[in-house]
Amino acid sequence: MVPGGETDRPAKREHWASRAGFIMAAAGSAVGLGNVWKFPYMAGENGGGAFVIVYLPIVFTIGISVLLAELIIGRAAQKDPVGAFRMLGRRPWPLVGFMGILAAFLILSFYGVVAGWTLAFAVKMATGVFSVPGADPATIFGAFIGAPLPPLLYAAAFMALTAWVVLGGIGHGIERANLVLMPLLFVILVALVARAVTLPGAMDGLMFFVRPDFSKVTGATFTAALGQAFFSLSVGLGAMITYGSYLDRKQNIGRSATSVVGLDTLAAILAGLVIFPAVFAAGVDPGAGPGLVFVTLPSVFTQMPGGQVFGALFFVLLAIAALTSAVSLLEPVVAFFMDEYGFRRARIAVVTGGAAFLLGIPSSLSMGPWADATLFGKGFLDLLAFVTSSIMLPVGGLLIAVFVGWVMGPRAIAELKGEEATAPALARAWLTILRFVAPLAIAWILVNELISTG
Ligand code: TRP
Repeated sequence: MVPGGETDRPAKREHWASRAGFIMAAAGSAVGLGNVWKFPYMAGENGGGAFVIVYLPIVFTIGISVLLAELIIGRAAQKDPVGAFRMLGRRPWPLVGFMGILAAFLILSFYGVVAGWTLAFAVKMATGVFSVPGADPATIFGAFIGAPLPPLLYAAAFMALTAWVVLGGIGHGIERANLVLMPLLFVILVALVARAVTLPGAMDGLMFFVRPDFSKVTGATFTAALGQAFFSLSVGLGAMITYGSYLDRKQNIGRSATSVVGLDTLAAILAGLVIFPAVFAAGVDPGAGPGLVFVTLPSVFTQMPGGQVFGALFFVLLAIAALTSAVSLLEPVVAFFMDEYGFRRARIAVVTGGAAFLLGIPSSLSMGPWADATLFGKGFLDLLAFVTSSIMLPVGGLLIAVFVGWVMGPRAIAELKGEEATAPALARAWLTILRFVAPLAIAWILVNELISTG
């Protein structure tokens, strides 16, 4: 018995039932609001194609290396992030795991609020709220997120769905949900691309997205691209350590990591191919910021034939993407309480999911009734989003890179080499990125950020 625990530990750790199941679950984690909501508006604010050109190399060097580092830690330890660092490293290292669990919980709390908006907008599109003559999407959006109660009800519904998937466990809950939802998501996304690029005027949107405007690239673009890469790939807090801990040693994780990064990037590009043609076809500003998807798209949809159906589909897609990501934010927290304290999965999934919903309440209210309560000029949700994605994730990613590069070092290479197919040159490049490139690049960007905001 474990002190504070309520049952004996399960005799055997759960594992993914198949390689495809694991890849879908990890891709489901990665593909989320970050791809479909955040990536297009960040690209829109940062010079379109120019942002893409800065973003892609970061993803395929630092991003993929840290992702692989997390999977190696998890698979080697077969434990939650705190337990994994305790097992593979010395004393202060488990703190990195603790910071990760905390970050996961904090992100989940506001992620659930925004995900609730997507559920609400799916309902609004389907019921024709935007098709009423004189309906103004900006007013509808502002009124909805600013009201005290309805956004909270949708957030509660979303969090209940998330906890329900997690309490089903790895093979039955998370893997099965992702095996159905991820292919569905790509089918909807491709259908939407087909619709968007055939709109009159779509060409301008395509050009904006592929033709770089380098005059918009500044130091801030690099900070934004790095933060976006971490957030989008779900790295920096141990979500991938947790998913990796349900892998057995037979799988080639180098190849799996490449598939996950490929699918995540594909989803972001496809989302851009939906949103920019649609935005230009409707003549709205691509640099509209976070409201890009919630304000400009409904106005685009109502102007186009079949828009009510495509609009509802779009927000259903967004809700699905958010659900499979939220699951991967709750799972590390649940795994922590199961592995470290022996709690039972179902009970702790409901308790921590409920707690994340409660912490989401101030985030939701900060969009309306509490809009005036600000700290450093930011409301509660914005502040949480900034502290987690711009500080905790990069710091976590840096420490994970240092841990695998310097503390595990040769052992990490041995873990990779256990797989016949890994080329030695690639393994060496990976270690070099973890030891030097990633820590220096992340530290440089963090310092820059402190100087520019401080
Ligand atoms: N990657 C998800 C998105 O793009 C968000 C997410 C899920 C996440 N799990 C994570 C971000 C773990 C950081 C760490 O929306």
